[in-house]
Parts: sequence; structure tokens; C-alpha cells
Amino acid sequence: MSKSGTFDLASGVGGKIDKREVLSAVDKYEKYHVRYGGEEADRTHNYADLANKYYDLATSFYEYGWGESFHFANRWKGESHRESMKRYEHFLALNLGLKRGQKVLDVGCGIGGPLREVARFSGTCVTGLNNNEYQITRGETLNRFAGVDSTCNFVKADFMKMPFADNTYDAVYAVEATCHAPEALGCYKEIYRVLKPGQHFAAYEWCMTDCFDASNQEHQKIKASIELGDGLSDIRNTKQCLEALKLAGFEVIWDKDLANAEDSPVPWYLPLDKSHFSLTSFRLTSTGRFCTRNMVRVLEYVGLAPEGSLRVQMFLEEAAEGLVAGGKKEIFTPMYFFLVRKPL
Ligand SMILES: C[S@@+](CC[C@H](N)C(=O)[O-])C[C@H]1O[C@@H](n2cnc3c(N)ncnc32)[C@H](O)[C@@H]1O
Repeated sequence: MSKSGTFDLASGVGGKIDKREVLSAVDKYEKYHVRYGGEEADRTHNYADLANKYYDLATSFYEYGWGESFHFANRWKGESHRESMKRYEHFLALNLGLKRGQKVLDVGCGIGGPLREVARFSGTCVTGLNNNEYQITRGETLNRFAGVDSTCNFVKADFMKMPFADNTYDAVYAVEATCHAPEALGCYKEIYRVLKPGQHFAAYEWCMTDCFDASNQEHQKIKASIELGDGLSDIRNTKQCLEALKLAGFEVIWDKDLANAEDSPVPWYLPLDKSHFSLTSFRLTSTGRFCTRNMVRVLEYVGLAPEGSLRVQMFLEEAAEGLVAGGKKEIFTPMYFFLVRKPL
């Protein structure tokens, strides 16, 4: 069952980390980042530890504020946030042309929100690959609750070294996950290897856009806030991803940044925008975040949430600011979509 209550949030902070070690994990996590003197080479080298610490610390906040699917979505007028999230997941199934009974791989699956939706929508058997043990434990519980545990499963492994034989899957997808790879080519090559010839890979990538200017201090500050708040070592640009796909051997069927007024008349970052108020996404609004912050402060003070919890809330709030600023300036997108094929 979904864990979205106050006490679920408090008890989940730290994931598999011992509750007494949460504060030092926050310290170590923050020290990876520019603001705290961290360097990109160190983040990239320690990408697995960086992402694992981040998701141990942040997963219960994600579930509390956002739900079971940890991604953004382009959105049409008249569509609710929840509807747009589901449609965004169905869009993957549609583009991959999924057929009943096929074996599908979800790379970097979180707690399995998209996995369950894609499996139910298409009648496929989806394996979720994830390097975070806490998220897998949550995902297994949610799969049992949703009744997809006999057809879907989770595998704990690094997507840079997948424990699968060559040519295993009928389709592969990744939702806002491969941005955690230390380099795109190695990750795409692994996906290429495990995909059957003639079959497709589709993904939503987090990227800096062509509007990003590396010599602009403000742009760099926004990028660093997103990296700090989202467990990333260095956000790539769309061209680097496209180039890496081709180098890995894929044929590009189509690619497009969907974060534009035509494909997303309602901006993807709206739920995080402080000037926006919504009752259905209340916890993400300015007032909602104020309430969560103070609630976490109290829970930490009385010992119900581990020490360090408030610091997690603070870097997540910083992430939200960075994402909204990056979205408004159009220098960042969480939805660079591509559909590619492994040639026969
Ligand atoms: C933003 S979450 C997206 C989760 C999921 N795709 C969704 O949309 O709900 C990124 C996911 O990538 C996973 N991840 C990060 N680095 C990974 C790695 N090296 N190998 C496997 N999974 C990884 C994280 O544990 C997390 O589950």
C-alpha cells in the first residue's frame, strides 16, 4: 500500500541506512556537491554511492509529495497532474509497440510506479532494474498490492553492469533514470546488449538544452542546484545523449524535447512552481512545503524522524527551485524523449 502519511515519511527517511547514521549520510552526500566543495570527477567516480545515498534519503519524501511514479510529465490543458503522469507512461508502451506477454525491462525503476502502469496497460511482464535496495523492498510490496507480482519482478543491480544475458528483452525503457549513469555510452551499450535485435528502447532523459550556456554563472548555479537536489553528478546535454545512442549502435527512430509549448501547453514544472496553488498537489505548493518543513522539524526534534531529515527536506526544496528556474529559462528538460531500435 502506498506510504504517503506523515509517519511513513518520518520512518522512511534514510531507507536502508541505520537511523543513527542518517545525519552522517546527509553530510557525505552534500560533500559530493559543488556547494560543499565537491568535484565532478569524484561524483562521477562514486556515481553508485551518490545515487544510493540520495534515494535512501529522499524516497519517502518522494512518495509523500509526489506519489509512486518519480518523474515529470508534459501536460495538456484540462488534464490533471495524475492523468498526465499515467498518459506519459502509456506513451512509452505505445511507442514501444508493446504486445501482451512480452518481456520488458524498466531501467532505473524507482519503486515501480511506471512499471505497474506499463504492465497493466500492455499485459507485459516487466522487470524493474534498480540499484537501490530500499526502493526494491517498497516496489515489491506495492507490486503485491497491485496484483502484478506474478508477472513483474525487480532485480537489484547497476545499469552499467546488467546481470542479464545478451538479447534477452523484447523492449527496454528508462524514465528519468539514465541521467545517473557516469557516462551515457556505457549505459546505452548495456541496454543495446540485453535488447533483442530489431527491438526498441525508449526513454525520457534529463538534459541541459541548447539554451544552456556553460559560461553563464546563473545557468551553472541552476544546474548545480538540480545536481545537488537530485543525486546527479553532471547533467548531459541532449546532443551528447543522441551521439551516445548512435555510438552504442542504435538507429534513431525519433527524438524530441517534449518540454515545449506545443507538446506541453501546461508547463511540466507547474506543480513545483511556488506561485501556483493546487489543492490536489497541496504538498508541493509553497504553503504545503512550509507545512512539511515544520512538520519534519518537529518530528526530528521529538525523535520520530532521524537526525538529518530536515536537511534532506532542504536540499529537496533547493532541487525544486532549480528545476523551476531551469524549466522557465528553458535551459533544462526532464523529458528529452527518444525511440531507438537495435538493428536486425
Ligand atoms: C528519478 S528515479 C526514476 C524512477 C522511475 N523510473 C520512475 O519514474 O518512477 C531514478 C532511478 O534510477 C535508479 N538508479 C540510479 N542509478 C542507478 C544505477 N547505477 N543502476 C540502476 N538504477 C539506478 C535510482 O535508484 C532510481 O530508482
